[in-house]
Amino acid sequence: MTAIIKQGNVAVPRHVAIIMDGNGRWAQSRFLPRAEGHRRGVESVRRTIEAAAKCGVPFLSLFAFSSENWRRPPEEVNALMKLFATALKREAKHMLANGVRMRVAGDLTAFSEDIQQSIAESEAMTASCDRMVLTICANYGGRWDIVEAMRKMVKAHPDVAEHPERITEAMVSEHMAFDWAPEVDLMIRTGGEQRISNFILWQAAYAELYVTRTLWPDFREEDFMGAIEWFNDRERRFGMTGDQVRANK
Ligand code: FPP
Repeated sequence: MTAIIKQGNVAVPRHVAIIMDGNGRWAQSRFLPRAEGHRRGVESVRRTIEAAAKCGVPFLSLFAFSSENWRRPPEEVNALMKLFATALKREAKHMLANGVRMRVAGDLTAFSEDIQQSIAESEAMTASCDRMVLTICANYGGRWDIVEAMRKMVKAHPDVAEHPERITEAMVSEHMAFDWAPEVDLMIRTGGEQRISNFILWQAAYAELYVTRTLWPDFREEDFMGAIEWFNDRERRFGMTGDQVRANK
């Protein structure tokens, strides 16, 4: 269970995760190449980082490229890779200036050496920033994360092969990507689809899911604030009854 930060009367989620959907539709509705939608999406990324940091969110995670996105046409994958490489270099300086620490979660071995190096450099450059931790999920999938955690857990505790009853949730959790972040409080999805698409699964077990029809390139600070306002009206029960939650307040 995660504690929520109070800023005046506003409950600020500690960890916000965003599925940035709708770049392709945004571009296609303007007869532009899909890659142009992704390029405009990077501008929304910057605005959203600023909005989240401004309202005191300590952990923001963005779904930039899923384990399944390799299935897209090669020209779109190439455009996304190029964008990723240039945006990483450019945005890292911006993040450093804003006190934002950048981390990347996902299987990075599939990326080019150039991108892997840019990731390492951006992470190192912003390592001492402590205003907010931004996690870019790249070649990431929630199921991949769970399987990797299981593998690491069995390696760290070889006895569990003989005694599976010794496996606890905490043992699995401690080997997941995002071991640096608390569980997700609020998951936002732009573009209107009501699904999780193999984004953060384990750590979003109790996340509130906010879906907006706004396409990602159109997502602005006021849209982010709208999601925070909506979150403030939610009653988080974590399996308890509403009466119990109100009695514990
Ligand atoms: C989904 O829209 C979006 C993506 C697959 C890519 C998101 C990537 C960015 C915004 C760039 C990120 C860059 C950095 C540095 C974080 P879609 O193409 O599936 O849209 P559609 O549903 O309208 O087709």
